[in-house]
Amino acid sequence: MKYFSTIDGIRAERQKLGLVGFVPTMGALHEGHLSLVQTSVEQNEHTIVSIFVNPTQFGPNEDFDRYPRTLAQDLSLLEIFGDRVSIFHPQPAEIYRQERFIRFDVQELGNVLCGKSRPGHFNGVVEVVAKLFNIVQPNRAYFGAKDFQQTVILRRMVQELFMPIEMIIVPTIREADGLAMSSRNRYLSPDERNKSILLYHTLVSVKEQAELGQPTEPIIQSVYQRFNTQSDVQLDYFDIVSDQNLAQMSEINDHSFAVIAAYIGKTRLIDNLKILE
Ligand code: PAJ
Repeated sequence: MKYFSTIDGIRAERQKLGLVGFVPTMGALHEGHLSLVQTSVEQNEHTIVSIFVNPTQFGPNEDFDRYPRTLAQDLSLLEIFGDRVSIFHPQPAEIYRQERFIRFDVQELGNVLCGKSRPGHFNGVVEVVAKLFNIVQPNRAYFGAKDFQQTVILRRMVQELFMPIEMIIVPTIREADGLAMSSRNRYLSPDERNKSILLYHTLVSVKEQAELGQPTEPIIQSVYQRFNTQSDVQLDYFDIVSDQNLAQMSEINDHSFAVIAAYIGKTRLIDNLKILE
């Protein structure tokens, strides 16, 4: 497994490789990330994994400084893939070298759902993923279904900017009780960990109701009522939206997703489920 921290280094390596799959991450790797890497290794001659905690996607009051950085452990988890995988682990100064005069501005898709409580977040995600795509120049890129809004926005980015990259969305990997794996789960106390399962339970019960053809509006209202009675758990949003434009859907079709974000104590968790599958 080769390791690169400079743009020149990873670019020179990429020139030597044929079909390349790319897995962008912020490190603190868990089985969710590894399933993206595994899928890419199966589908491409070579896989490049980036590990970069991107400062521009964190708000001023968010967890950029305390975001877990576990490089040694991340590298040892990736060892199992041997020489089929290369690592790109730049420092922030390598990616954001000078003053930035060019910015991305995600319009409506970036202001709803997670964008409401994380203003500017998706501008930062698009900026860094565009930079990483230009550096790595992969044939395919792998993203987790867990970050639903991110997948919708990045698919639009690739379409609208004519990037010659195939986007592959990989199913969410969950703990045995259903909690979606996340680098932020390690912030949860044992009591909060117990409560966190409410997100997945809510999605499953909504899916059951919506599959039966019940109208979506009362379903959405009942979720807000259910969360009102919870202590230490605060619903940020719940909705049933389209994966085409993130608009709320009154009727279910093949594009419908139930999406949720909630604070468990101070930790904000997100999850989603496709309604018809
Ligand atoms: P990060 O949160 O590290 O996630 C990296 C990738 O792993 C994302 O595509 C995410 O959706 C996927 N992932 C996370 N948890 C998952 C799970 N339980 N099952 C399946 N996939 C999962 O998302 C980011 O980093 C950043 O925004 C990034 C795209 C790297 C840009 O900085």
